[in-house]
Amino acid sequence: MNNNLIQEIPKTELHLHIEGTLEPELMFSLAQRNHIKLPFASLEKTKEAYNFSNLQSFLDVYYQGANVLINEQDFFDLTFAYLQKAASQNIVHTEIFFDPQTHTDRGIPFATIINGINQALIKAKEELNISSYLILCFLRHLSEESAFQTLEEALKYQDQIIGIGLDSSELGHPPSKFKNVFKKAKEAGFLTVAHAGEEGPPEYIWEAINILGVSRIDHGVRCLEDQKLIDYLRETQIPLTVCPLSNVKLKVFNSIQEHNLKKLLDLGLCVTVNSDDPAYFGGYLVENFLAIKDGLNLTDSEVKKLVENGFKASFLPEELKLVNFFRFTQLLTPQLF
Ligand code: HPA
Ligand code: ZN
Repeated sequence: MNNNLIQEIPKTELHLHIEGTLEPELMFSLAQRNHIKLPFASLEKTKEAYNFSNLQSFLDVYYQGANVLINEQDFFDLTFAYLQKAASQNIVHTEIFFDPQTHTDRGIPFATIINGINQALIKAKEELNISSYLILCFLRHLSEESAFQTLEEALKYQDQIIGIGLDSSELGHPPSKFKNVFKKAKEAGFLTVAHAGEEGPPEYIWEAINILGVSRIDHGVRCLEDQKLIDYLRETQIPLTVCPLSNVKLKVFNSIQEHNLKKLLDLGLCVTVNSDDPAYFGGYLVENFLAIKDGLNLTDSEVKKLVENGFKASFLPEELKLVNFFRFTQLLTPQLF
């Protein structure tokens, strides 16, 4: 498939942390606007600091960057900048993670965060015709008690939040740590997802499925170490939101050529492609597609399958999934067949 077509096909993005879209330029301008001193001397030094050795080394920089977000306008500017970028890559629907505890723990009110983000989603729907859902992630390095407090806040904004997720430092913080709070979230009507099997073992993926009852696994690439899990994921078609450039940047794989995404696809799993934290990992969604297409020699029908899976795995109502399938199948038909 040629690169222009990858750019043009209507796409979804289902694994995207809004705090991970903070480009160094915006970080610097918000730091100035809010009189915050950054630990980086210059834009160039900031980019140099983006040399990560694992998930934790990234998270340390990522949480520092988020300190520049103070006012509703900051959350609006951050979110609208991502949605403009997404629309320019023909993403027609996106399901966005946000990490309220990163901000509420610094004294920023929950309302400031969600109002800023939500205003940007509304404007982008009107002006850019991109639809979005919000997924609130609990930080798994914090306690379940803190997650419960965050869920209390979320309940006040349930019309604006479709689901609950789990992110941050995976090792040592298994999904089972959040069993009770996920149970309460599901009872309240939230959909659920969880990061699992990025750095953590297949057992964490099982826990996310069996104990948290998630609809999707974020990352999940370590499922290949467990044949029973592969069989289960194939049978149930529980989607994996895979993030190729992130996995290389955080050394889950040594190179894009060594990424297991093609193996996962060959095994019949519902794999999707996503950018995770694009401002930190060197590429938005199209760059992720191009990297795997070239690095793994994907065929046209494999790329098409990945895009199709993005719609299938989304939380869009079935009728909207069908409309989107139709749109992109029409666009692809003359080129593929
Ligand atoms: N993994 C866990 N937590 C995160 C990530 C990730 O890839 N990105 C932002 N928070
Ligand atoms: Zn992530």
